[in-house]
Amino acid sequence: MTAGQWYARVATVVVVRFPRLWGLFRGRLTRVFDGLAPQWDGMGASPNRLLAIGAAFDGLPDRPRTVLDVGTGTGSVARLAADRWGEADVTAVDVSPGMIAEARRATSSDRVRYEVGDASSLPFPDGAFDLVSLNNMIPFFDELARVTAQGGSLAIAYSRGPQTPIWVPLDRVRNELRAREFTHFADFQAGEGRSLLARKGDRP
Ligand SMILES: C[S@@+](CC[C@H](N)C(=O)[O-])C[C@H]1O[C@@H](n2cnc3c(N)ncnc32)[C@H](O)[C@@H]1O
Repeated sequence: MTAGQWYARVATVVVVRFPRLWGLFRGRLTRVFDGLAPQWDGMGASPNRLLAIGAAFDGLPDRPRTVLDVGTGTGSVARLAADRWGEADVTAVDVSPGMIAEARRATSSDRVRYEVGDASSLPFPDGAFDLVSLNNMIPFFDELARVTAQGGSLAIAYSRGPQTPIWVPLDRVRNELRAREFTHFADFQAGEGRSLLARKGDRP
């Protein structure tokens, strides 16, 4: 692993356990990802990178009308969602302005709205999204639960499973979500990738 990947892994372990410590990591991690942004798609361009999140998307009971991709990087998952669900309104957020600039450059459609924003304090109303997705991203569970609609879904994926620098064991994810009204969990494996789909509350 590179020094940046180690830093991301340490930040993940600490922040999942103590979300309030995110402020200690935010500045440096944002700079790391800003620096990586111009070459990000070349670095992670494995065709398998989206398999695990795609498997979770396949498990959705309904077509979402509103989608939020958190920690979108250069927007590959946001574009996957926009391509799958042509009628959906897709929003994507990332703390790194450099990543958001690359995402906007890589997206021809105006159906994806990109915003610079922090997953620890998302600039969206409660229950705003039918589907919230994360691929290789640190989960901030309170905020994920807050912006997911009742009856909506959360899809969380790690494209290289435990080898992913930003990785949270899916048992841990399930327990955190269960404590926040999520139910109906399904696990997926696609190549070395792992993902989890969870539904919030009962379906309306
Ligand atoms: C490993 S990259 C994954 C990018 C993208 N999801 C993908 O699969 O290619 C993690 C991304 O999460 C972003 N990120 C990290 N912490 C964040 C936070 N608190 N709020 C929003 N974005 C964050 C980083 O800037 C980076 O773009």
